[in-house]
Amino acid sequence: MRILITGICGFVGFNLARCWREAGKDVEIVGIDNLCRPGSESHRTELKQMGVRHIHGDLRLASDLAALPPADWVIDAAAQPSVLAGVDGQSDSRQVVEHNLVGTLNLLEYVRSARAGLILLSTSRVYGIEPLASLPLKVHDDAFVLDASRPLPSGVSAAGVDETFSTRPPLSLYGATKRASEVMALEYGQTFGLPVWVNRCGVMAGAGQFGHAQQGIFSYWISSWLLRRPLRYIGFEGHGRQVRDALHPRDLASLLEMQMDKPDHDAPRVINVSGGADHAMSLAQLSRWCRQRFGDMTVAASPQMRRFDVPWLILDSTEAQRHWRWSPRTSLGDILREIADFAQQHPQWLDMTV
Ligand SMILES: NC(=O)c1ccc[n+]([C@@H]2O[C@H](COP(=O)([O-])OP(=O)(O)OC[C@H]3O[C@@H](n4cnc5c(N)ncnc54)[C@H](O)[C@@H]3O)[C@@H](O)[C@H]2O)c1
Repeated sequence: MRILITGICGFVGFNLARCWREAGKDVEIVGIDNLCRPGSESHRTELKQMGVRHIHGDLRLASDLAALPPADWVIDAAAQPSVLAGVDGQSDSRQVVEHNLVGTLNLLEYVRSARAGLILLSTSRVYGIEPLASLPLKVHDDAFVLDASRPLPSGVSAAGVDETFSTRPPLSLYGATKRASEVMALEYGQTFGLPVWVNRCGVMAGAGQFGHAQQGIFSYWISSWLLRRPLRYIGFEGHGRQVRDALHPRDLASLLEMQMDKPDHDAPRVINVSGGADHAMSLAQLSRWCRQRFGDMTVAASPQMRRFDVPWLILDSTEAQRHWRWSPRTSLGDILREIADFAQQHPQWLDMTV
């Protein structure tokens, strides 16, 4: 079997390839990446050493995809993955749409002609910003928690946001390109009789992530703390109570294996995949963890809100557990320790990847 991973030099794509190579899985892995993410080029040598072929190509160019060898399965892990992409003054809105949506459309044509299966790595950011931003919350132990004593919108519980939660815009350009990619992927699957799985991933975190303030927050925070780089609690009155869960990509890999093994499995085609409530913490709690590990540092407060900020985003992956008997195995503590160990061994990483 041949698996094509798009964005193979990125954090998730690279980790999936490494995971399967280290496990000695009997598959050929080929990847495409245009190396547009700072730091991604650093993974090329390691991929080569693992026997994984990286083809330098761009999903925006149909001719680059036409030159790829046919695959049995495609895992789409290429994107501009920041919620501020296209509106932060650093990236162009047209480019975000081209990378994230036009890239998917080109990939779907490749999938159709190769008669391959597709696993699209989508995001929790397909859920509507307005209902997320207005969830009833209270504060406990320096973190926002859901206030279940007040009326909750449909599709959310203390376990997190489930697949029935509103996907009505605004979602951010990132979220909207991913949502549109989901729809087109499912449509191609139906129209051409191809297996398609859409995994809405929550925050993924682990060693070697290219962290910056808008994406890869766990890695960015820990690496910055270690190097005593200035950090800020942005928005929400500047207390750092905003909460996210985290999932290690090696835990995602085990689900993808099952999805490739059982293309006809009677499971929902769209599911959430996340660390969930047991793997969640606020920025202030992350600071507490960093303080214990690396010593004290002051975090500045920037109470002014940014666009698309949401205070509490935990993704409920009960459906993945129910249909695939899948649950994350790597604890949040292990994820944080792995990031911190890596940051200590690679103090130059933060500068390489911003
Ligand atoms: N990391 C997370 O927390 C997270 C959460 C939810 C969903 N996802 C999704 O998982 C996927 C992987 O995310 P990641 O964290 O590894 O991101 P990443 O930025 O680390 O990696 C993405 C890779 O894609 C490549 N790429 C981007 N545009 C491309 C194009 N047009 N052609 C070829 N290559 C291109 C980049 O060079 C980079 O190496 C993305 O689709 C993202 O939306 C990630």
